[in-house]
Amino acid sequence: MIEKIEALLAEIEQLQVSTPEEVEAARVRYLSKKGIISSLMDDFRNVPTERKREVGMRVNALKQTATERLQQLKELFVQNGSSGKENDLSRTAYPVPLGTRHPLSIVREEICDIFKRLGFSIAEGPEVEDDWHVFSSLNFADDHPARDMQDTFFIQHDPQIVLRTHTSSVQTRVMETTAPPIRIICPGRVYRNEAISYRAHCFFHQVEALYIDEGVSFADLKQALFFFAREMFGAETKIRLRPSYFPFTEPSAEMDISCNICGGKGCPFCKHTGWVEILGCGMVDPNVLENCGIDSRKYTGYALGMGIERITNLKYQVKDLRMFSENDLRFLEQFRSAY
Ligand code: DAH
Repeated sequence: MIEKIEALLAEIEQLQVSTPEEVEAARVRYLSKKGIISSLMDDFRNVPTERKREVGMRVNALKQTATERLQQLKELFVQNGSSGKENDLSRTAYPVPLGTRHPLSIVREEICDIFKRLGFSIAEGPEVEDDWHVFSSLNFADDHPARDMQDTFFIQHDPQIVLRTHTSSVQTRVMETTAPPIRIICPGRVYRNEAISYRAHCFFHQVEALYIDEGVSFADLKQALFFFAREMFGAETKIRLRPSYFPFTEPSAEMDISCNICGGKGCPFCKHTGWVEILGCGMVDPNVLENCGIDSRKYTGYALGMGIERITNLKYQVKDLRMFSENDLRFLEQFRSAY
């Protein structure tokens, strides 16, 4: 029996494990009620009385050693916080959790992609702009009430320097420096002094499109809009143009699409009209062309502008605009896409 105890002692001292599960298995094997050490107690009955004391001490010592050794092994895993799987070199590498694109970026890319297929290329401009590019060049007279349409942020009390209120400012930057034909799409962030709520924010995003060439007509605009609406919202989508007013286009229109949530039947989202407004557009006002050094007798053009948040809401039914800028991963992780 002494040899058996010695052999077990050696075995336990050299015990090697690589997972917490193996520690538990060893505990069951050696220390549980039906384990090896308990079964030694059965043998103990047959030990001659004069040797019982010595053997008993050895069994107790073995039990003590086994308990300590297993405790030691258990702590090893708790200490390095690992599950022990790290020691398995044959395992595959850690899967790297993939991030997701921001929903506004997904939709921006999608919009730009559609216009790229029509031959448009991307143009960008500064967010801190001067009055000329945001307003004056676009036919906003100094005292024109249309300036009130957009609550402007001014920089350092200088009324000439503003945070752009729309991406139409990029139109003029490009027209001033590029000879027609011009076919650009301008995505970007814009700022307006609005109280923040679920439906308004002090910054948001727009995409502007501009096409200037000889003989560009309203029919070209309508065709581009129709193409865009169907590509973006599906082949069933209908469009409708309503007369509107913008200082930089004449004539101007706003485009509605058939509500893609109820399919045009009427629902709370479209206020039971079956239509939702998605963008402003029109033929570039000849004054704007002249302001930018383009001969308005030779060239005509169309422009359109839309809010990316609005299009994203329509696609994904995000009810609260503030979600877009809160960086809540639970919200962001829902958007997976090919972009
Ligand atoms: N800039 C306008 C806005 O922010 C949107 C817009 C309307 C852009 C008509 C255009 C346009 O290019 O033709 O409300």
